[in-house]
Amino acid sequence: MNIEQDYALDELNTFGLKSQAQSFCQVHTEAELEKLVQSALFLQQSVSWLGGGSNIILAPYVNSFVIQLCNKGVEVIEENNDNVLVKAQAGEVWHEFVLKTLSIGYNGLENLSLIPGHVGAAPVQNIGAYGVEVKDRIHSVICFDTYSREWQTFSKVDCQFQYRDSFFKHAENGRYVIWAVIFELSKRFIPNIQYGDLEEVSNRMAIGQALTAKTVSDAVCSIRQQKLPDPHITGNVGSFFHNPIVDADVANELKQRYPDMPQYIQNDGRIKLAAGWLIDQAGLKGHQIGQAAVHLKQALVLVNLGGATHTDVLDLSKHIQEIIFTKFGVKLHPEPNFW
Ligand code: EPU
Repeated sequence: MNIEQDYALDELNTFGLKSQAQSFCQVHTEAELEKLVQSALFLQQSVSWLGGGSNIILAPYVNSFVIQLCNKGVEVIEENNDNVLVKAQAGEVWHEFVLKTLSIGYNGLENLSLIPGHVGAAPVQNIGAYGVEVKDRIHSVICFDTYSREWQTFSKVDCQFQYRDSFFKHAENGRYVIWAVIFELSKRFIPNIQYGDLEEVSNRMAIGQALTAKTVSDAVCSIRQQKLPDPHITGNVGSFFHNPIVDADVANELKQRYPDMPQYIQNDGRIKLAAGWLIDQAGLKGHQIGQAAVHLKQALVLVNLGGATHTDVLDLSKHIQEIIFTKFGVKLHPEPNFW
């Protein structure tokens, strides 16, 4: 294990911000992890666990020990005629893992195709897209507790999943390392194509061809490619804000003022609003501060036009929050973590 000082993180964050970590190393095996957490450096510094870097906004200098999880592997651990439990290591690239499961005939992750990042980060913010959240497919999460130095399995209930939220988002900073995730997938294909955009594309694609998990995955990829910038080309972290959830009376009042406003009723009776719609209606598409801008095709995404600084991103985020609060009385909360 090679520990480096003042390590450049420029290539390890999808927003493409220039940043240096005080210390950095990569971990590939359980033995390496167990050894590392006993090292003096680990015990002296605050620690930040890094996956694919697709949901972080980095300060120019990250004053901590950044440890990237690079453990790989996908294996079936249990199966019957209908279902299969698949264990994926945290360092697996999410989209490659999704494609692997589909190619062997295990269904369930197709709607979550092409989401950037690694497997280990998926449970933290309960990634979701096109009518499916990853919690719907998670069986359990295997963690290393760096406080007790013991391995611990979290059941789905222990994970306390909610919209873009989980137990892991609120746990003591750096305490739990998500090392592997066990997914419960199905050998039978049950399409979930009710989500607006997806229904349209799937209908079109389905003419003359059978609807399979792979065709749904292809449809999701094509929608994402049309609306969302490719982080390999244009730096971004996907949705920059959560879709805000408000009380029904607030939503009713807004609906009277803005009859076209999309609103989605939640299980608890509260209403989810579309932050992208609010930002779009406020005329902020394309709005630019320094080299950070609101994406032209999806207002919920902020992009790096080339050389954006940490301050550009913070200023743009704050400006959007202020405008949306003034116009709609709704608070927007950023989705990525700020290091
Ligand atoms: N809308 C606009 N203008 C925009 C963007 C959106 O009017 O610029 C409207 C759309 O027309 C639609 C509504 O807002 O009526 C919702 O938009 P969309 O379907 O594009 O989804 P979203 O709510 O903006 C969420 C997720 C995305 C996910 C999509 C599809 C969050 C924070 N974001 O976005 O996740 O891909 O649904 O399921 O929940 C991500 O987290 O990085 C991400 C991309």
